[in-house]
Amino acid sequence: THPLLGRDLLTLADWNDTELFDVLETAAELKLRQQRRKAHPLLANRTLAMIFEKPSTRTRVGFESAMVQLGGHGIYLSPRDTQIGRGETIGDTARVLSRMCDAIMARVNDHATLVELAQAADVPVINGLSDWLHPVQALADALTIREYFGSCQGVKLVYLGDPNNVSNSLLELAPRLGMDFAIGTPFVANVDQHLLAQSRLQAAANDTKIVVTNDPLEAVKDADVLYTDVWVSMGQVVAEGHLEALQPFQINAELLAAARAGAKVMHCLPMHRGEEISADVADGERSIVFDQAENRLHTHKAVLVATIAGLALRRTKRLA
Ligand code: CP
Ligand code: NVA
Repeated sequence: THPLLGRDLLTLADWNDTELFDVLETAAELKLRQQRRKAHPLLANRTLAMIFEKPSTRTRVGFESAMVQLGGHGIYLSPRDTQIGRGETIGDTARVLSRMCDAIMARVNDHATLVELAQAADVPVINGLSDWLHPVQALADALTIREYFGSCQGVKLVYLGDPNNVSNSLLELAPRLGMDFAIGTPFVANVDQHLLAQSRLQAAANDTKIVVTNDPLEAVKDADVLYTDVWVSMGQVVAEGHLEALQPFQINAELLAAARAGAKVMHCLPMHRGEEISADVADGERSIVFDQAENRLHTHKAVLVATIAGLALRRTKRLA
């Protein structure tokens, strides 16, 4: 069995480089099986409890479809409709779900809720987005970059806009996969200092570069991928002038022209055309946002089979 059996995924730092690599390989193989409509019931009769304190399209549908395609079932739980909403503790909820389900996935307002869930649960707990991190998004992003560039090694990824859960997880992941990573933001001081320090250590070990700058043109220089996210995250309270300060960091034709020729554009979605990304770029030929969204499904499957069943797969040769 794979060492990820029974393990949590609260942050990408929970897993070592080999484990991350194995999950991406597994995702690529499961994607191929799905595309060929080859059944892969690796989690037959297993259930995943899915707690959502915030709205979701991709995370919910991606995990629920993943469980069904793996032969199991995902159970959507909103605090409004469960006893959590009437005061049952997170710890008791985790204990009960552990007796009935094979894993718990949760999207929470406060990252501490995930830590509390994981402490009380006997089954794997997977972070489906917290105020601090969005690890399953970063895994799907890495799979997408591998598909377009052959490998993450040597790719320069640039995140533009508001430092948030998505940029935090990219900061954790990029240097570990051999990518150069830049953040272009007017809010340089809001970049998580702990994660930045960790990321710089990883970058030094892997001979990659990390840049944080308030100059959008400096950020996008030599970029292979421009990445952005909403300017106001769910539950975020912003200061006056927040949106105005972000304007120069919009991914538009002009900023794209300052990146490497053929650079790709990514967004974790949902996107707001005319804010963090211009409509022409969002819907243009450089945009790979829907491949990215699809890859949530395949990476979720890989995370689930690894943590619930201790399975990792090798890629079979693509048929000619
Ligand atoms: N990117 C992402 O997590 O999307 P949802 O909020 O729709 O789940
Ligand atoms: N940063 C965004 C991501 C949504 C998928 C948010 O937290 O709202």
